Amino acid sequence: MRRRTRTTRARLMAAATGLLVAASALAGCTGPDQNGDAVPGIIPAPTAFELREADEPFRLTPDSRIIADGPGAADVAALLAETLRAGSGYELPVVEGGAGEAADLVLAVRETTAEGADAAAAGLDAGAAFGGPDAEAYTLELGGSGARIDAAAPAGLFRGTRSLLQLLPAELSGSAGAAPADGFAAPAASVDDRPRFTYRGAMLDVARHFLPVEEVLRYLDAIALLKLNVLHLHLTDDQGWRLQIDAWPALTEVGGETSVGGERGGFYTKDDYRRIVEHAAARFITVVPEIDLPGHTNAALSAYPELNCDGVAPAPYQGIEVGFSSLCASPERAEATDRFLADVTREVAELTPGPWLHLGGDESLATTPEDYRDLLARITAAGASTGKTVIGWHEMGASRELPRGTIGQYWSFVEAEDEAVPLTMSFVEQGGQVILSPADAAYLDMKYVDDPQTALGRTLGQDWAKGPTTLDEAYAWEPADIVPGLGEADILGVEAPIWTETMRTIDEVEFMAFPRITAIAEIGWSPAGERDHENFFARVASLATRWDASGTVYYPVRGVPWAD
Ligand code: ACM
Repeated sequence: MRRRTRTTRARLMAAATGLLVAASALAGCTGPDQNGDAVPGIIPAPTAFELREADEPFRLTPDSRIIADGPGAADVAALLAETLRAGSGYELPVVEGGAGEAADLVLAVRETTAEGADAAAAGLDAGAAFGGPDAEAYTLELGGSGARIDAAAPAGLFRGTRSLLQLLPAELSGSAGAAPADGFAAPAASVDDRPRFTYRGAMLDVARHFLPVEEVLRYLDAIALLKLNVLHLHLTDDQGWRLQIDAWPALTEVGGETSVGGERGGFYTKDDYRRIVEHAAARFITVVPEIDLPGHTNAALSAYPELNCDGVAPAPYQGIEVGFSSLCASPERAEATDRFLADVTREVAELTPGPWLHLGGDESLATTPEDYRDLLARITAAGASTGKTVIGWHEMGASRELPRGTIGQYWSFVEAEDEAVPLTMSFVEQGGQVILSPADAAYLDMKYVDDPQTALGRTLGQDWAKGPTTLDEAYAWEPADIVPGLGEADILGVEAPIWTETMRTIDEVEFMAFPRITAIAEIGWSPAGERDHENFFARVASLATRWDASGTVYYPVRGVPWAD
């Protein structure tokens, strides 16, 4: 989304497909820095990491087993086994409990905290209902005598498996070729790790262009590798309504038909949506549904005349302007509008095991300030009455009647615009926290500096957020330094949104997201402090060998020492 978009004009540039850099010549976990020295290959950088290069490596061999110990461990083990079997061709049986041999991987849940015990008891829902940093913490030990991951909850165990995959050879993230004679080696190492922030999100705009379920599942797999734990789905906008609502069927029958540029429409049935939620939960990712209100509503308004002040449904919209649509605040429409708000928030909440409901609030430029505040009070009350915590874009802070604890999502710049500061602090003043998505660093739909063509000869993205965004810029910001007065404890986390006005498929989404999303993942997970850009770039190069193996599309930005 954006303030006043500019239409992107395709420009023919030197071809840079972003699809596949040749397989790595680098050893398992390491990439070279500019001195040729090895650096750890894990993104996001762990809290503590020790590489013991002189010690015997761990070797995954045809005899390896995955030993699952403790509540919830077997599901995590099964998912890891699936990936490793595909990459190795080994049998890799999952065994419950018992001591591990040198070739085994032990995954153990130890309920050392009340939070961990709760999360473990909740099983799969632990991911959906959120464990918090303690439940996501883990330790990983690798060496000649075996491999083991310990965590207080299954969420931490799963995060540990994502580090393990990054330390094993990249081929294991793909489909099996010839296995090395002495197995797949990972260097002797110790990792002790926990996230900085509770909420580490990626947002997909499936409203401007619809992405079918399978494409969303693919994005979930890719963000899980980076230990992101929220998928925010921007489900409704002027151009499309993408989620079945039983009480208001025309929302999808009419409002689901369109997309930007008249391209493929579509929507998720409730069963489709449950598949997304389940796939996410198995990876300990919470789905946050967004119904954008009261602006960005042309698709809903075009489906139901009674939601319009003049009682006339507008035509469907396929352009990329913003700020022209609004729900109606007038008392004559109050019955229809409030019934719509109650039904939609109830049905969306019923599909949502996680704690959050995003209700938009941005760019309501066609709503008077008075109507905006009136509608916000009704929208947020409807959301809160479902028992969920409401999230809103930072403009929602204009309301002083937010349900206590409402979360604000900041989308101004790294250098905050004046008006964004009080709007953002309003959430904190009303007992809430803030998610940071500074648009000139975290919006993945901003152009790359060299405006590359994709394999299909298209150029993608927009440049309204202070021009193109480099990987350096995506990595350079510090969440606690953006909004004066916003302290560490006021920050729920960070999120990298991608708006799809110019992107039509998951290949195009990934082309824009990777590698810049790695920067946001690291800012959300890794401890605060100095950022070593060279070290980060070397780890990005190392991680790209996994993207090559798993088929994740990325754009090889300049400055990263990509393997050749
Ligand atoms: C936004 O980009 N309008 C949240």
